[in-house]
Amino acid sequence: QAQETTVTIHTGEGKTIIPKEIYGQFAEHLGSCIYGGLWVGPHSNIPNTEGYRTDVLNALKDLKVPVLRWPGGCFADEYHWRDGIGPRSQRPKMQNNNWGGTIEDNSFGTHEFLNLCELLGCEPYISGNVGSGSVEELAKWVEYMTSDGDTPMANLRRKNGRQHSWNVKYLGVGNESWGCGGNMRPEYYADLYRRYSTYCRNYDHHNLFKIASGASDYDYNWTKVLMDRVGNRMNGISLHYYTVKGWSGSKGASTEFTPQEYYWTIGKSMQIEDVIKKHTAIMDQKDPQKKVGLMVDEWGTWWDEEPGTIRGHLYQQNTMRDAMVAALSLNIFQRHTDRIKMANIAQVVNVLQSMILTDTIGKGHMVLTPTYHVFHMYRPFQDATYLPADVHTDSMTVEGGHMASMVDGKIPDVSVSTAKAKDGSIVVALANTSLDKKQTVTVSLDNGSVRSVSGSQLTTPALTAYNDFQHPDRIKETPFKNFKMKKGSVTATLPALSIVVLQMK
Ligand code: AHR
Repeated sequence: QAQETTVTIHTGEGKTIIPKEIYGQFAEHLGSCIYGGLWVGPHSNIPNTEGYRTDVLNALKDLKVPVLRWPGGCFADEYHWRDGIGPRSQRPKMQNNNWGGTIEDNSFGTHEFLNLCELLGCEPYISGNVGSGSVEELAKWVEYMTSDGDTPMANLRRKNGRQHSWNVKYLGVGNESWGCGGNMRPEYYADLYRRYSTYCRNYDHHNLFKIASGASDYDYNWTKVLMDRVGNRMNGISLHYYTVKGWSGSKGASTEFTPQEYYWTIGKSMQIEDVIKKHTAIMDQKDPQKKVGLMVDEWGTWWDEEPGTIRGHLYQQNTMRDAMVAALSLNIFQRHTDRIKMANIAQVVNVLQSMILTDTIGKGHMVLTPTYHVFHMYRPFQDATYLPADVHTDSMTVEGGHMASMVDGKIPDVSVSTAKAKDGSIVVALANTSLDKKQTVTVSLDNGSVRSVSGSQLTTPALTAYNDFQHPDRIKETPFKNFKMKKGSVTATLPALSIVVLQMK
């Protein structure tokens, strides 16, 4: 017996654009995200384009990555950019103290990152070192990347082979400054932000969008202090929210979990909406015109590392549970784009809830995760106009653990997001969270008719199934045809545990 959901879209009431940056990615020098993930170097046996893995590059181009954050994360506050420029063979090494003590040879540095962004056609988001770096170091990095004048840093860049500045818009001033980025109090960090950001100049035509290191989860005081003491000296303030059981003990296996644990995960991921609302309310007090953006620049699931992989490298598998977290989170972000201006899932390759997993030895296989497919299916939402909708769907109540602090402890049977895409079509994302019930969803337009519908879906009958190098297509996007069209509506039947995106013209 299928459950019933109705969605009525208010086609004429679109007010906010869903910034494409909501679909942002994050690449840290952590495990095999950079080395073996994005970069193998030009002399590798693994097919590459000037050192970037060709398979990964093509998959990311197809994803239309809008923005890529780098070099961390915690790594950013120990990173000294001058170690990563000049001839690769002469670059000094360092120990990556945050992530397993791995030796970093700095062969992937500023040029390699910014050239990658150009190849992908995405905005770079540089995360600057405030924790262990000087004001001068950060100021000069900005000059190196963005000055076109006869300046010392622009000339050094030219000497290293790059004539013109790169387009760098987003600059993070520190990362997790309350923790790995320096263990600071918000009052102290607020002053440091003011000081460091003063010297990050706008060179020539560049206009930096400066992002302060923001709160984690429920630390509303951090946001309050920064809004009081920094205010609109920052263009954005970050927020980190992971779907994780806790920071001590086991976080649970990525591919072995019960239906109960699945529902717990869904509930925990949805709790981000309450967290966003509370940070937004604090920001609204000081900034009612919403000039300062909330940048969710780290989010996603965090499980135990896969058995046999290096501790501290955060390599985890990805199932339909992760895909569901991605869809629900994106649906939530899309509801709050009056304040949220960017989100960066952690991380793009081989780390946490990644888009792509690679095999760095032998043939160098690559596999796309279920989360990749969600981002791929959601591409029409990038820069679309958000459309409000009336949604009637049942919900289930979940109890236990963090769920106790959920707003109402409820998971909707179907999570919905609706928008008018740039090509004029109406795009509808429908995520059926139930593990055992189909859903009949009737989507109606309050005005206008439907001439044609196309759709894609992601689903699996096996809850804990995943893609690996031997079975790369166990979970993949397929055409969705299980719908009927009427003049002003479409009725679709969603399988249990499925994500469907419809495009209506
Ligand atoms: O994404 C992994 C780590 O999580 C980042 O380095 C850090 O900012 C956060 O704690």
